[in-house]
This record gives sequence, C-alpha cells and structure tokens, in this order.
Amino acid sequence: MATKTFDLLLRGGTVVNHEGQGVRDVGVRGGRIAEIGSLANAEADEVIDCTGLHVLPGVIDSQVHFREPGNEHKEDLESGSRAAVLGGVTGVFEMPNTNPLTTTQDAIEDKLSRAKRMWCDHAFYAGATHDNYKDLEELEMLPGVCGVKIFMGASTGNLLVPDDDGVRNVLSHGRRRVAIHSEDEEMLRKEAHLARDGDWTSHPEARSAAAALRCTERLLKLARETGRRIHVLHISTAEEVPLLQQHKDIATCEVTPQHLTLEGPEVYERLKGLAQMNPPVRDAHHRAGLWQGICQGVFDVIGSDHAPHTLEEKAKSYPASPSGMPGVQTLVPVMLTHVAEKRLSLSRFVDLVCHGPNRIFQMAGKGRLAAGYDADFTVVDLNREETITHDWSATKSGWTPFDGFKAKGWPVGTIIRGRCVMWQGDLIGEAGGIPIRFQETL
Ligand code: DOR
Repeated sequence: MATKTFDLLLRGGTVVNHEGQGVRDVGVRGGRIAEIGSLANAEADEVIDCTGLHVLPGVIDSQVHFREPGNEHKEDLESGSRAAVLGGVTGVFEMPNTNPLTTTQDAIEDKLSRAKRMWCDHAFYAGATHDNYKDLEELEMLPGVCGVKIFMGASTGNLLVPDDDGVRNVLSHGRRRVAIHSEDEEMLRKEAHLARDGDWTSHPEARSAAAALRCTERLLKLARETGRRIHVLHISTAEEVPLLQQHKDIATCEVTPQHLTLEGPEVYERLKGLAQMNPPVRDAHHRAGLWQGICQGVFDVIGSDHAPHTLEEKAKSYPASPSGMPGVQTLVPVMLTHVAEKRLSLSRFVDLVCHGPNRIFQMAGKGRLAAGYDADFTVVDLNREETITHDWSATKSGWTPFDGFKAKGWPVGTIIRGRCVMWQGDLIGEAGGIPIRFQETL
C-alpha cells in the first residue's frame, strides 16, 4: 500500500472533537484536515509531536475590541491578534466601536486592508446606528463581516441604539444573527448617581442587574416581533439565564471568563479600576447563576470581550475610569483551570469556543476538528501549571486582570490553516491571518 503523505502531521495527541476524546494522529493537506486516525506509517513535510498534549479545534474568540482605527495606543489589529495566538486563539470577531465607527462599507474595507497584519483569522462586526439601519442588509453580507452589533446601553465610545423603535428598525433589516450589548440605557442614566466617587464596589449598583434584565426582556420581545435571530453578549446576571432559557429558538448568548471567574465586591477592592467593565462583574449570586447557565447548556459561547485601556486611564478615579479589560490571551488558560477544577468538562469548553461559534455564526469550514475543515488547532497541556502575569501579556495596554492567577492548563500551540504560528510561547513566521467566511454570505 502506498505511503500516505501530508503537509503536516500532528502525532500522538489526544484529539477532542465530535467523537469525544482519544489519542489520534491528524493529517493536514492544503491547509485543511485530510484525515484523523492512526497514521503511524504516514509521512509529512512537517511533524509535530503532540504526545501528552490535547489537540482541540481552533479556539474562536467571538468578541474582541482591538481599537483600530482610532485608539492604537491601547491596541491595534497586529498587537491584539498577536496576544490572541499567544493565548491559543485561532480566530477573532472584532467590535465596531472604533474611531471612526465601523458603520459603513468604507470603514469595513479599511479594517480589512489593515487586517493583513493580523496573526489570526478574523471577522468584523458592522455597528448599527439610527442612521445606517437601511444599509445593514448590505453591510452584513460583505466579505469578512460576522454580523451586526447593537449597543443598547452606552459603553466605550458613542455607538448607541437604546430605544425600541431604533432596535426594531435594525432587527427589521437583514437576516443574519444580530449581536447585542444589553443594558437598559434609560435605567443606566437614572441610576448613574449611585456611582460613589473613588469606590468601584458601586459599579454594579450604577449599572444594575435590573438594568441588564430589563433590557434583555425588551430585546427578546423585539426579536420575537421581528422574527430576527439575536445573540446576547456578555450576560452578567443570574436572572437573565432562566429568561434566555425560554427563548433558545431565537436567542443565543455569551458569557465571559471574567464574569465566571471574578466576583464583587472582592475584585473591586483588590483591582479597583482594572476590574471595571460593562456590564459589570457582579456578586456571588450572579456568578453562581452564570455557572448554572454553563452547566445547563444555556450559554452558546464564551467570548473574552477583550477591551484594553491604558493603566494611566484605568488609574483615574471612579466613575471617570473607563470600562473594559484585556482577555483574549487569558481566555484559554483561565477556562482550562475551571476544567481542571471540574466546573465544566473539556468537551463543554470546546462546545463553547469552537462548536458554538461554528453553529451560531455559521462559519464556513471552521470551528470543528473534522475532515474537510480548516486545519485550525489549539494545542494545550492540561497538566502545565503557570502563573499568569502582566509581563506575559502581549496587549499594548500591558496588563491583565488575571495577574497572579495560578492556571492549570496552558495553550502550547496555535495552528491556523495548517501553519504553526505559536509553539511553546514562541511566535513562528509572519502574520498571515485571513478573513473568516460565513455560509450565509457565500
Ligand atoms: O467594558 C466594556 N468595554 N464593555 C463594552 O461593551 C465595551 C468595552 C470597550 O470598548 O472598552
């Protein structure tokens, strides 16, 4: 029998995919997965020994802010994507609250031309406004666009559609799933006085759980009325979980590692402004409710909401300090530590960061470790113990809310379309990310 040949062979790792977990070789040809199985007699131009390691489908972070154009001193597409691949992330979806806003075809094309410097594969959200809603059905079909994003509550920047009429207009134009930041702007304005100067423990009071819940209730009604699929980003309250559970036919939802791991008031006392994000990290009751959503299968994806601000900005006194934390590089080790501590299974992790994005955004040929799919892999060492530090962070902002976090489980390899771009912490070759394609736009 003729010897099988591949461009790349991952040998002897424990593959985690639709079949469960087992020691398998993976053969790659032309950037795609050609065969999974026992390939002991095969030959390849490049062989990577994965003995003792786990080979996951490439991890997708479906919510990051890389700040380009406009705020490149905090991050840019090159630095953010470098942090991504150092953290085992093979693809990112990037947010539109940039300067200028990513709300027009020109702005999207500008981002795509800048994205040639990215290390990982990528797609961009088109931002919704009161003025551009009629253009959205065209914008959402452009190459490299993962969908439309609405900010119903104001966060960093001035992208905002807070009212029912505005949201209804957006949901009535176009077909793809729409991603939403769900905090009720009217309540946020009414409750802003609850922010106590210099006291970050008041952040979850000034942006209350009730404001998040009310907005998600309004949003679900509007989604039903317009018959539009929605994706509710970074859920932060226990009460939204059973509500979303009743609407799984139309609404998918995301949770972040920060909301699953950090807890008020302790984290605000310890990290002050570094712990501030929107919607806020809340208390033990809410964190337990979010874990219930993980265990019950209510959450579809984990995204990092990587949103860097400089240490100088973060040192401003509350409430002048900006909201957002870096997270793209720490998503994998933080969540693997929860796997090690048995809060979720490794299969559920893969479901949330690979199969989930594949399913709900309908990525073309990505998000599954299966024959015919892109050869994207996140290779991890489940036994490796490391402490996350500011120094390890590749984000331009130079810090992480997880400084000092003792991780068990570490990303050791990032392989994108058959190219190994990170191995044991070293970047390899040059940035070669390309736009992700989506089935609905083919
Ligand atoms: O905390 C946040 N920061 N939440 C958001 O939704 C936006 C983000 C940012 O862009 O800084």
